[in-house]
Amino acid sequence: SSDGVAILASWLKEARHTTVLTGAGMSTESNIPDFRSKSGWWNNIDPRTVATTKALKRDYDLFHEFYSMRIRGLEKCSPHKGHKILSAWEGRGLIQAIATQNVDGYHIAAGNESVYELHGSIHKIRCDKCSTPDSIDHFLDKESCHSCGGKLRPGVVLFGETLPEESWNTAMSHIRKSDLVIVIGTSLEVYPASELPSMTNGRKVYINAEIDYHATQFDLTIEGKAGKILKQVNELLNL
Ligand code: NAD
Ligand code: APR
Repeated sequence: SSDGVAILASWLKEARHTTVLTGAGMSTESNIPDFRSKSGWWNNIDPRTVATTKALKRDYDLFHEFYSMRIRGLEKCSPHKGHKILSAWEGRGLIQAIATQNVDGYHIAAGNESVYELHGSIHKIRCDKCSTPDSIDHFLDKESCHSCGGKLRPGVVLFGETLPEESWNTAMSHIRKSDLVIVIGTSLEVYPASELPSMTNGRKVYINAEIDYHATQFDLTIEGKAGKILKQVNELLNL
């Protein structure tokens, strides 16, 4: 909605401290499928069977196949205009931090510096047993850890694992002191990231392709594609 876009542009200019929270919907316009939309990853794969510590230990072939497919998919794609706009906004002091549930590293690739990866990064490979860092190529070639022979895995947070303390705490402190929180492209279905918006006393804006009951907690809801809406707001800010 154009008036929603105009309101967001004025709130962005007024705010002293703005934090953005993004999910998989921020990267679908880079052709990376999200999880819970019709075309999402989880539609034909049950998350509890692959993105879990159990799968890592009991069904490494399936675990490896799933994450190799995601890594190869990412190699063919890149951040889109929406990611670049968020980077320009950080450069202009319009936003102070991005907390993301995404593991694609696109906010960092687009140039943002204050980025907190709540679910880790798929590009950081480590041994599941001794945590020695290793390379993406060794993971893709299904090699074992060169130090202890353990299994290699991407540094993403699996169901059942806890979030990286540092990222989580810093994201929370940014949200707490924000007078504007903009949530983009997430179904808000997964805890504890889904609790972040409720931790601010500031204004809350939700930009999402599908608006459901989660939207009721927001002061402003804009239904639509992240890239398109960020472009419209950006034009009003004449950046
Ligand atoms: P979960 O959805 O089961 O929630 C984690 C714990 O919090 C569970 O004990 C659950 O009972 C509790 N919980 C859930 N919603 C809550 C709420 N609204 N209020 C209070 N407590 C709530 O998540 P999980 O299966 O334990 O996964 C842990 C983390 O791993 C999640 O934060 C998730 O984001 C992350 N994860 C990452 C990936 C990935 O591919 N990167 C995949 C799956 C999960
Ligand atoms: N613009 C805006 N919203 C979009 C777009 C888009 N181009 N494309 C999809 N969406 C919306 C979808 O409608 C959906 O509501 O983004 C949301 C994506 O939600 P999910 O697929 O559930 O992804 P996310 O919320 O990031 O999942 C959270 O679950 O499996 C775990 O760790 C994984 O980080 C992930 C977490």
